[in-house]
Amino acid sequence: MSRPLLETVDLKTHYGGTRSLLSKPKPLVRAVDGVSLKIQPGEVLGLVGESGCGKSTIAKTLLGLERETEGAILLDGFDVGGRDPAEARKVRSDIQYVHQDPGAALDPWWRVGDTLHETLKIHGVSDRAERQARILEMLNAVGLNEGFLRRYPHELSGGQQRRIGLARTLSLRPRMVILDEPTSGLDLSVQATVLKLMLDLRATYDLTYLFISHDLSVVERLCDRVAIMYLGRIVEIGSADQVFSAPAHPYTRALLESAPTLTRQDSGQVIQGDPPSPTRRPEGCAFHPRCPMAQADCRQSVPQLAEVSDSQSVACPYAMPGQVRPAEAFAS
Ligand SMILES: Nc1ncnc2c1ncn2[C@@H]1O[C@H](COP(=O)(O)OP(=O)(O)OP(=O)(O)O)[C@@H](O)[C@H]1O
Ligand SMILES: [Mg+2]
Repeated sequence: MSRPLLETVDLKTHYGGTRSLLSKPKPLVRAVDGVSLKIQPGEVLGLVGESGCGKSTIAKTLLGLERETEGAILLDGFDVGGRDPAEARKVRSDIQYVHQDPGAALDPWWRVGDTLHETLKIHGVSDRAERQARILEMLNAVGLNEGFLRRYPHELSGGQQRRIGLARTLSLRPRMVILDEPTSGLDLSVQATVLKLMLDLRATYDLTYLFISHDLSVVERLCDRVAIMYLGRIVEIGSADQVFSAPAHPYTRALLESAPTLTRQDSGQVIQGDPPSPTRRPEGCAFHPRCPMAQADCRQSVPQLAEVSDSQSVACPYAMPGQVRPAEAFAS
Protein backbone atom coordinates (compact mmCIF):
# COMPACT_ATOMS: atom_id res chain seq x y z
CA MET A 1 0.00 0.00 0.00
CA SER A 2 1.32 3.49 -0.83
CA ARG A 3 2.12 6.07 1.80
CA PRO A 4 -1.04 7.76 3.12
CA LEU A 5 -1.62 11.29 1.89
CA LEU A 6 -2.99 12.17 5.30
CA GLU A 7 -2.70 10.41 8.61
CA THR A 8 -3.90 11.25 12.11
CA VAL A 9 -2.61 9.53 15.20
CA ASP A 10 -4.77 9.60 18.33
CA LEU A 11 -6.10 13.03 17.37
CA LYS A 12 -8.03 14.89 20.07
CA THR A 13 -9.78 18.25 19.85
CA HIS A 14 -11.46 19.38 23.03
CA TYR A 15 -13.34 22.62 23.58
CA GLY A 16 -13.83 24.52 26.83
CA GLY A 17 -12.89 23.01 30.18
CA THR A 18 -11.07 26.20 31.18
CA ARG A 19 -11.70 28.35 34.22
CA SER A 20 -11.17 32.05 34.49
CA LEU A 21 -11.77 34.50 37.30
CA LEU A 22 -14.17 36.59 35.23
CA SER A 23 -16.36 34.00 33.56
CA LYS A 24 -18.15 30.81 34.46
CA PRO A 25 -16.21 27.61 33.74
CA LYS A 26 -17.12 26.17 30.37
CA PRO A 27 -17.84 22.43 30.28
CA LEU A 28 -15.19 20.28 28.64
CA VAL A 29 -16.43 19.06 25.25
CA ARG A 30 -14.45 16.09 23.94
CA ALA A 31 -15.55 16.70 20.36
CA VAL A 32 -12.79 14.55 18.85
CA ASP A 33 -11.34 12.10 21.33
CA GLY A 34 -8.67 9.85 19.88
CA VAL A 35 -9.03 9.42 16.12
CA SER A 36 -6.41 7.51 14.14
CA LEU A 37 -7.05 7.52 10.38
CA LYS A 38 -5.09 6.94 7.20
CA ILE A 39 -6.34 8.42 3.92
CA GLN A 40 -4.69 7.02 0.79
CA PRO A 41 -4.04 9.21 -2.26
CA GLY A 42 -7.00 9.16 -4.62
CA GLU A 43 -9.49 7.51 -2.30
CA VAL A 44 -12.87 8.76 -1.14
CA LEU A 45 -13.26 8.19 2.58
CA GLY A 46 -16.75 8.70 4.01
CA LEU A 47 -17.18 9.94 7.57
CA VAL A 48 -20.57 9.18 9.06
CA GLY A 49 -22.20 9.56 12.46
CA GLU A 50 -25.03 11.26 14.32
CA SER A 51 -25.19 15.03 14.66
CA GLY A 52 -22.66 16.32 17.20
CA CYS A 53 -20.35 13.29 17.06
CA GLY A 54 -17.42 15.46 15.92
CA LYS A 55 -17.31 15.19 12.12
CA SER A 56 -16.97 18.91 11.39
CA THR A 57 -14.51 19.28 14.26
CA ILE A 58 -12.25 16.69 12.60
CA ALA A 59 -12.54 18.70 9.36
CA LYS A 60 -11.72 21.99 11.08
CA THR A 61 -8.79 20.41 12.91
CA LEU A 62 -7.32 18.91 9.72
CA LEU A 63 -7.63 22.27 8.00
CA GLY A 64 -6.02 24.03 10.97
CA LEU A 65 -9.05 26.17 11.83
CA GLU A 66 -9.09 24.50 15.24
CA ARG A 67 -5.89 23.52 16.96
CA GLU A 68 -5.71 19.92 18.13
CA THR A 69 -5.48 19.30 21.87
CA GLU A 70 -3.35 16.18 21.42
CA GLY A 71 -2.17 13.77 18.75
CA ALA A 72 -0.40 14.03 15.41
CA ILE A 73 -1.36 15.11 11.88
CA LEU A 74 0.89 13.89 9.07
CA LEU A 75 0.71 15.09 5.48
CA ASP A 76 2.79 12.98 3.08
CA GLY A 77 4.51 11.55 6.14
CA PHE A 78 5.53 14.99 7.46
CA ASP A 79 4.32 16.18 10.83
CA VAL A 80 2.15 19.25 10.15
CA GLY A 81 0.37 19.39 13.53
CA GLY A 82 0.77 21.58 16.59
CA ARG A 83 0.50 24.92 14.81
CA ASP A 84 -1.51 28.09 15.22
CA PRO A 85 -4.30 28.54 12.67
CA ALA A 86 -2.40 30.90 10.33
CA GLU A 87 0.70 28.71 10.25
CA ALA A 88 -1.38 25.52 10.00
CA ARG A 89 -3.28 26.83 6.95
CA LYS A 90 0.03 27.57 5.24
CA VAL A 91 1.58 24.15 5.76
CA ARG A 92 -1.68 22.40 4.97
CA SER A 93 -2.70 24.37 1.88
CA ASP A 94 -2.90 21.04 0.03
CA ILE A 95 -6.07 20.42 2.04
CA GLN A 96 -9.09 22.55 1.19
CA TYR A 97 -12.71 22.57 2.28
CA VAL A 98 -16.09 22.78 0.62
CA HIS A 99 -18.36 24.50 3.11
CA GLN A 100 -21.47 22.81 4.57
CA ASP A 101 -23.46 25.92 3.50
CA PRO A 102 -22.05 27.28 0.23
CA GLY A 103 -24.30 30.36 0.40
CA ALA A 104 -22.69 31.33 3.69
CA ALA A 105 -19.22 31.00 2.14
CA LEU A 106 -20.07 33.58 -0.56
CA ASP A 107 -20.28 37.27 0.34
CA PRO A 108 -23.86 38.40 -0.50
CA TRP A 109 -22.62 41.89 -1.52
CA TRP A 110 -19.92 40.68 -3.88
CA ARG A 111 -20.21 39.40 -7.41
CA VAL A 112 -19.08 35.79 -7.73
CA GLY A 113 -16.07 36.86 -9.82
CA ASP A 114 -14.85 39.23 -7.09
CA THR A 115 -15.14 36.49 -4.47
CA LEU A 116 -13.18 34.04 -6.64
CA HIS A 117 -10.45 36.63 -7.33
CA GLU A 118 -10.22 37.55 -3.65
CA THR A 119 -9.79 33.90 -2.62
CA LEU A 120 -6.82 33.53 -4.95
CA LYS A 121 -5.37 36.90 -3.87
CA ILE A 122 -5.48 35.80 -0.24
CA HIS A 123 -3.61 32.67 -1.27
CA GLY A 124 -0.85 34.70 -2.90
CA VAL A 125 -1.81 34.61 -6.59
CA SER A 126 -1.06 38.27 -7.31
CA ASP A 127 -1.14 38.19 -11.12
CA ARG A 128 -4.66 39.11 -12.33
CA ALA A 129 -4.34 37.32 -15.66
CA GLU A 130 -3.26 34.11 -13.93
CA ARG A 131 -6.17 34.37 -11.51
CA GLN A 132 -8.62 34.92 -14.36
CA ALA A 133 -7.24 31.93 -16.27
CA ARG A 134 -7.54 29.62 -13.26
CA ILE A 135 -11.05 30.86 -12.50
CA LEU A 136 -12.25 30.31 -16.07
CA GLU A 137 -10.71 26.83 -16.15
CA MET A 138 -12.51 25.90 -12.93
CA LEU A 139 -15.82 27.44 -13.97
CA ASN A 140 -15.62 25.36 -17.11
CA ALA A 141 -14.73 22.26 -15.09
CA VAL A 142 -17.84 22.66 -12.92
CA GLY A 143 -20.08 23.23 -15.95
CA LEU A 144 -20.66 27.00 -15.63
CA ASN A 145 -19.73 29.82 -17.98
CA GLU A 146 -18.06 33.20 -17.66
CA GLY A 147 -21.42 34.96 -17.29
CA PHE A 148 -21.70 33.60 -13.74
CA LEU A 149 -18.79 35.81 -12.64
CA ARG A 150 -21.08 38.86 -12.85
CA ARG A 151 -23.82 37.36 -10.71
CA TYR A 152 -24.48 37.89 -7.01
CA PRO A 153 -24.95 34.81 -4.76
CA HIS A 154 -28.73 35.36 -4.48
CA GLU A 155 -28.95 35.05 -8.28
CA LEU A 156 -27.72 31.43 -8.10
CA SER A 157 -29.70 28.24 -7.51
CA GLY A 158 -28.59 25.85 -4.75
CA GLY A 159 -26.92 23.58 -7.32
CA GLN A 160 -25.11 26.53 -8.94
CA GLN A 161 -23.90 27.69 -5.51
CA ARG A 162 -22.39 24.23 -4.94
CA ARG A 163 -20.66 24.40 -8.30
CA ILE A 164 -19.23 27.85 -7.51
CA GLY A 165 -18.12 26.52 -4.10
CA LEU A 166 -16.33 23.63 -5.83
CA ALA A 167 -14.76 25.97 -8.43
CA ARG A 168 -13.50 28.23 -5.66
CA THR A 169 -11.97 25.35 -3.72
CA LEU A 170 -10.39 23.73 -6.79
CA SER A 171 -8.90 27.04 -7.99
CA LEU A 172 -6.54 26.69 -5.02
CA ARG A 173 -5.22 23.45 -6.56
CA PRO A 174 -5.66 21.24 -3.49
CA ARG A 175 -4.67 17.58 -3.38
CA MET A 176 -7.28 16.72 -0.79
CA VAL A 177 -10.76 18.18 -0.42
CA ILE A 178 -12.94 17.88 2.66
CA LEU A 179 -16.58 17.92 1.62
CA ASP A 180 -18.83 18.61 4.60
CA GLU A 181 -22.42 17.61 3.80
CA PRO A 182 -21.89 18.74 0.20
CA THR A 183 -25.37 17.93 -1.04
CA SER A 184 -27.58 18.77 1.93
CA GLY A 185 -30.61 20.83 0.97
CA LEU A 186 -30.51 19.85 -2.72
CA ASP A 187 -33.30 17.96 -4.40
CA LEU A 188 -32.49 14.43 -5.52
CA SER A 189 -31.84 15.16 -9.20
CA VAL A 190 -29.54 18.13 -8.50
CA GLN A 191 -27.85 16.04 -5.80
CA ALA A 192 -27.13 13.32 -8.33
CA THR A 193 -25.55 15.74 -10.84
CA VAL A 194 -23.43 17.43 -8.17
CA LEU A 195 -22.20 14.04 -6.90
CA LYS A 196 -21.33 12.94 -10.43
CA LEU A 197 -19.49 16.21 -10.96
CA MET A 198 -17.49 15.59 -7.77
CA LEU A 199 -16.43 12.16 -8.98
CA ASP A 200 -15.48 13.53 -12.42
CA LEU A 201 -13.43 16.32 -10.84
CA ARG A 202 -11.67 13.84 -8.60
CA ALA A 203 -10.56 11.87 -11.64
CA THR A 204 -9.55 14.97 -13.65
CA TYR A 205 -7.56 16.62 -10.88
CA ASP A 206 -6.29 13.52 -9.00
CA LEU A 207 -8.10 14.48 -5.83
CA THR A 208 -8.54 12.69 -2.54
CA TYR A 209 -11.82 13.28 -0.72
CA LEU A 210 -12.90 13.16 2.90
CA PHE A 211 -16.66 13.04 2.46
CA ILE A 212 -18.74 13.94 5.51
CA SER A 213 -22.40 13.09 5.24
CA HIS A 214 -25.51 12.05 7.11
CA ASP A 215 -26.84 10.46 3.98
CA LEU A 216 -25.84 6.81 4.13
CA SER A 217 -27.13 5.97 0.67
CA VAL A 218 -24.91 8.68 -0.85
CA VAL A 219 -21.90 7.49 1.16
CA GLU A 220 -22.50 3.92 0.03
CA ARG A 221 -22.56 4.98 -3.62
CA LEU A 222 -19.69 7.43 -3.56
CA CYS A 223 -17.09 6.23 -1.07
CA ASP A 224 -14.34 3.62 -1.32
CA ARG A 225 -14.09 3.32 2.46
CA VAL A 226 -16.25 4.52 5.29
CA ALA A 227 -15.51 5.47 8.91
CA ILE A 228 -18.34 5.36 11.44
CA MET A 229 -17.96 7.86 14.25
CA TYR A 230 -19.56 7.85 17.67
CA LEU A 231 -18.95 10.54 20.28
CA GLY A 232 -15.55 11.64 19.08
CA ARG A 233 -14.12 8.24 18.14
CA ILE A 234 -14.13 5.91 15.13
CA VAL A 235 -16.02 2.75 16.06
CA GLU A 236 -15.82 1.01 12.68
CA ILE A 237 -13.87 1.58 9.50
CA GLY A 238 -13.57 -0.45 6.36
CA SER A 239 -14.35 -0.74 2.68
CA ALA A 240 -17.78 0.70 1.94
CA ASP A 241 -18.82 -2.66 0.44
CA GLN A 242 -17.90 -4.54 3.59
CA VAL A 243 -19.29 -2.06 6.12
CA PHE A 244 -22.61 -1.65 4.30
CA SER A 245 -23.11 -5.31 3.49
CA ALA A 246 -21.85 -6.69 6.81
CA PRO A 247 -21.80 -3.98 9.49
CA ALA A 248 -20.07 -5.36 12.57
CA HIS A 249 -20.33 -2.72 15.29
CA PRO A 250 -23.71 -2.59 17.09
CA TYR A 251 -23.80 1.17 16.46
CA THR A 252 -23.21 0.77 12.71
CA ARG A 253 -25.96 -1.82 12.61
CA ALA A 254 -28.32 0.49 14.51
CA LEU A 255 -27.45 3.40 12.20
CA LEU A 256 -28.22 1.33 9.11
CA GLU A 257 -31.44 0.03 10.62
CA SER A 258 -32.61 3.55 11.47
CA ALA A 259 -32.03 4.91 7.95
CA PRO A 260 -35.03 5.52 5.71
CA THR A 261 -35.07 3.43 2.53
CA LEU A 262 -36.67 3.85 -0.86
CA THR A 263 -39.36 1.39 0.12
CA ARG A 264 -39.75 2.80 3.62
CA GLN A 265 -39.53 6.58 3.66
CA ASP A 266 -40.08 6.88 7.40
CA SER A 267 -37.26 6.12 9.80
CA GLY A 268 -36.84 2.47 10.65
CA GLN A 269 -35.84 1.13 14.03
CA VAL A 270 -34.82 4.20 16.07
CA ILE A 271 -31.60 3.83 18.04
CA GLN A 272 -32.42 3.24 21.70
CA GLY A 273 -31.61 5.73 24.45
CA ASP A 274 -30.70 9.41 24.55
CA PRO A 275 -28.57 11.02 21.88
CA PRO A 276 -25.01 11.25 23.18
CA SER A 277 -23.38 14.36 24.61
CA PRO A 278 -19.61 14.85 24.35
CA THR A 279 -19.69 16.70 27.71
CA ARG A 280 -20.90 13.55 29.45
CA ARG A 281 -19.03 10.78 27.74
CA PRO A 282 -20.00 7.48 29.41
CA GLU A 283 -17.20 5.45 30.98
CA GLY A 284 -15.92 2.49 28.99
CA CYS A 285 -17.46 2.08 25.55
CA ALA A 286 -19.39 5.33 24.95
CA PHE A 287 -22.13 3.41 23.13
CA HIS A 288 -22.82 0.97 25.99
CA PRO A 289 -25.86 2.80 27.48
CA ARG A 290 -27.67 2.38 24.12
CA CYS A 291 -26.21 -0.96 23.09
CA PRO A 292 -28.47 -4.02 23.05
CA MET A 293 -25.41 -6.28 23.40
CA ALA A 294 -23.63 -4.45 26.25
CA GLN A 295 -21.83 -6.64 28.78
CA ALA A 296 -20.43 -5.71 32.20
CA ASP A 297 -16.92 -5.05 30.86
CA CYS A 298 -18.25 -2.58 28.25
CA ARG A 299 -18.85 -0.16 31.14
CA GLN A 300 -15.21 -0.28 32.17
CA SER A 301 -12.78 -0.38 29.26
CA VAL A 302 -12.74 1.63 26.05
CA PRO A 303 -12.57 -0.84 23.15
CA GLN A 304 -9.86 -0.17 20.55
CA LEU A 305 -10.23 -0.67 16.81
CA ALA A 306 -9.19 -4.20 15.84
CA GLU A 307 -9.16 -5.84 12.43
CA VAL A 308 -11.99 -8.30 11.86
CA SER A 309 -11.17 -8.87 8.20
CA ASP A 310 -8.74 -7.56 5.58
CA SER A 311 -10.87 -4.54 4.94
CA GLN A 312 -12.72 -3.88 8.18
CA SER A 313 -11.77 -2.83 11.73
CA VAL A 314 -14.19 -2.56 14.64
CA ALA A 315 -13.96 -1.19 18.17
CA CYS A 316 -16.13 -3.79 19.90
CA PRO A 317 -15.05 -7.14 21.36
CA TYR A 318 -18.58 -8.45 20.81
CA ALA A 319 -18.81 -7.30 17.19
CA MET A 320 -20.45 -9.63 14.72
CA PRO A 321 -18.36 -9.49 11.55
CA GLY A 322 -19.73 -11.26 8.55
CA GLN A 323 -23.38 -10.83 9.49
CA VAL A 324 -25.49 -9.53 6.69
CA ARG A 325 -26.99 -6.14 7.21
CA PRO A 326 -30.57 -5.80 8.40
CA ALA A 327 -32.92 -6.86 5.60
CA GLU A 328 -34.92 -3.64 5.48
CA ALA A 329 -31.97 -1.27 5.37
CA PHE A 330 -31.04 0.14 1.99
CA ALA A 331 -33.47 -1.72 -0.15
CA SER A 332 -32.40 0.64 -2.96
N1 LIG B 1 -16.41 26.05 19.09
C1 LIG B 1 -16.99 25.16 19.87
N2 LIG B 1 -17.01 25.31 21.21
C2 LIG B 1 -17.60 24.39 22.02
N3 LIG B 1 -18.17 23.24 21.57
C3 LIG B 1 -18.18 23.05 20.25
C4 LIG B 1 -17.60 23.97 19.32
N4 LIG B 1 -17.76 23.49 18.05
C5 LIG B 1 -18.41 22.32 18.18
N5 LIG B 1 -18.67 22.06 19.49
C6 LIG B 1 -19.32 20.86 20.03
O1 LIG B 1 -18.54 19.75 19.64
C7 LIG B 1 -19.39 18.64 19.34
C8 LIG B 1 -19.08 18.15 17.93
O2 LIG B 1 -19.53 19.16 17.01
P1 LIG B 1 -19.36 18.99 15.43
O3 LIG B 1 -19.80 20.27 14.81
O4 LIG B 1 -18.01 18.51 15.14
O5 LIG B 1 -20.42 17.83 15.15
P2 LIG B 1 -20.88 17.19 13.74
O6 LIG B 1 -20.65 15.72 13.85
O7 LIG B 1 -20.26 17.93 12.62
O8 LIG B 1 -22.45 17.46 13.79
P3 LIG B 1 -23.48 17.79 12.56
O9 LIG B 1 -23.73 16.46 11.90
O10 LIG B 1 -24.69 18.31 13.26
O11 LIG B 1 -22.84 18.81 11.65
C9 LIG B 1 -20.82 19.12 19.54
O12 LIG B 1 -21.24 18.73 20.83
C10 LIG B 1 -20.70 20.62 19.45
O13 LIG B 1 -21.70 21.24 20.23
MG1 LIG C 1 -21.01 19.16 11.03
